[in-house]
Amino acid sequence: MERRDFIKSSCNACLLLAAGYFLPELSGCSPVKFTTLNTDIINHQITIPVSSFAATNLQLVRPKGWYYNIAVQKKDNGNYSALLLQCTHQENQLTPNGNGFHCSLHGSDFDKDGNVRKGPAEHHLEEYKTFTDNNNLIIEILKTP
Ligand code: FES
Repeated sequence: MERRDFIKSSCNACLLLAAGYFLPELSGCSPVKFTTLNTDIINHQITIPVSSFAATNLQLVRPKGWYYNIAVQKKDNGNYSALLLQCTHQENQLTPNGNGFHCSLHGSDFDKDGNVRKGPAEHHLEEYKTFTDNNNLIIEILKTP
């Protein structure tokens, strides 16, 4: 191998190593993105497979015809929660921010359990009852936004 080829291949190897080192760091800076599962409400219930939590603890669910998402979370203890992502201040759609939910309109923040962490919102997020049935998670929708 000639000296020029050796230097060229060494530089390429260094670039690949650097890219492999820095890419995970860069991806940590990107905004949190989640896919949204569009569902029907049948007999006041939403049914989603428990397997949809195999790779994530948070699934956004959008009932057909609704403006708001529901944040369905698998907790550390194996239970599930379903929070309506409607800000309790002036009804803006909330977005997940990695450790809770944020309102871009006036800056309210809610923790993962729906408690207000920062106002102007003053009230806990609407929470729907959940239970599991075979391999499905059932969310009871007794009140629509
Ligand atoms: S609507 Fe969310 S903080 Fe005002």
